[in-house]
Amino acid sequence: MNELLIRGRVLTFVDEPQGIDDTASYRYFEDGAVFVRTGKVAAIGDYSDVRKHLAADVKIADHRPHLVLPGLIDTHLHYPQTQAIASYGAQLLEWLNTYIFVEEQKLAGPEHAAFIAGRFMDELLSNGTTTAVAYCSVHTQSVDAYFTAAEQRGMLMVGGKVMMDRNAPEALRDTPLQGYDETKRLIDKWHGRGRALYAISPRFAITSTPEQMDMSRALVREHPDCYVQTHLSENKDEIAFATSLYPDAKDYTDIYARYDLLGRKTLLGHCIYLSDREISVLAETGSVGVFCPTSNLFLGSGLFDRDRFDRLGARWSVATDVGAGTSFSMLETMDEAYKVLHLQGQRLSPLNSFYRMTLGNARALDLEDRIGSLHAGADADIVVLDSNGKSAMELRMRTAKSLAEELFILQTMGDDRCVAEVYVAGTPMKGRIGTVAAADG
Ligand code: GUN
Ligand code: ZN
Repeated sequence: MNELLIRGRVLTFVDEPQGIDDTASYRYFEDGAVFVRTGKVAAIGDYSDVRKHLAADVKIADHRPHLVLPGLIDTHLHYPQTQAIASYGAQLLEWLNTYIFVEEQKLAGPEHAAFIAGRFMDELLSNGTTTAVAYCSVHTQSVDAYFTAAEQRGMLMVGGKVMMDRNAPEALRDTPLQGYDETKRLIDKWHGRGRALYAISPRFAITSTPEQMDMSRALVREHPDCYVQTHLSENKDEIAFATSLYPDAKDYTDIYARYDLLGRKTLLGHCIYLSDREISVLAETGSVGVFCPTSNLFLGSGLFDRDRFDRLGARWSVATDVGAGTSFSMLETMDEAYKVLHLQGQRLSPLNSFYRMTLGNARALDLEDRIGSLHAGADADIVVLDSNGKSAMELRMRTAKSLAEELFILQTMGDDRCVAEVYVAGTPMKGRIGTVAAADG
């Protein structure tokens, strides 16, 4: 049987921290261990307790003094944009037209798609992210490349073919019927195959006609166990354009509501300029607003108002939004999240940051039984973090006095250099990064 005992300082959340002193929100084992059997967590606890039940010759991966956490989760990004990060000088609509719609056309080539998908998965793993929810391009082969690359690495990934039938170059447009047929075929092929999960993906109201929104509604009705991902209220010009295309809708959120696209499985990227009415609709439907701080700063989009989501009882998650997002690192993302909230007089404690990257994002996906925390029966997706990963961090860490302070240093100064190891379903992946990728493109 495939068994491994992972030793280190084990940290996993059991609930959302209510403050910086909320020790009941997590379990922390200073000399801890996670026992993994056939890809699942079989036991977690103090090393000595876990060890004494195991055979003398059990294989041990000793990661002391590093932190052992559940693998990080990214709830919104675009894999075809991997080579378009750092595209200069434009806000959303100009950025899409100038850079992104050019870049995404390259995914028509299956070899390029396979190359980018492989490198994309490796970037996620290098940064300690073991699950992500990504948009593919309009091309079905881009979805095949995405889930194939995930399957080769054993990763639990969510994704789907973008549907767009207007306001995009001809080469990136499908039709309502084609978007429906292709999505359906891809769901049949991939959803629930191994660890793959499908997200029905009308890009946003601007690039879908009412006919395509009707088809999206049909897909959601026919596949209620699939996710839905789209964009909402990211940029003021976008909002004006979207609402002008749907003049009968009360507001931007109402466009999606009218096509029954809201619900517990719906992830809405950005959600910056929502009224209280709109956030209340998200709360009532259980939809998730996705906070993408590096992207929102990079495109000059605006500031996500987390406190209003909390006050109105709406669900929210965090994400990189690569390629408008500027980093694959969830640590760097939480660093920017902290600053975005701080600018608005809002607090994000380091405990809450680490909760959000793990259990919080798993809950946003209703996947908390499987990922986001280390408990018996969970998938053994694990990240090992080195708080001394950079020399400036090592210096700073000499003065750290608590776990919370260490976590804050990790999120403020950390990046992929702090990822000492990453396990996918119990398999150590760091040494495999770069070895599975398709030929260089
Ligand atoms: N809105 C519609 N498409 C996109 C995209 O690719 N990135 C971002 N940031 N916003 C979008
Ligand atoms: Zn996006």
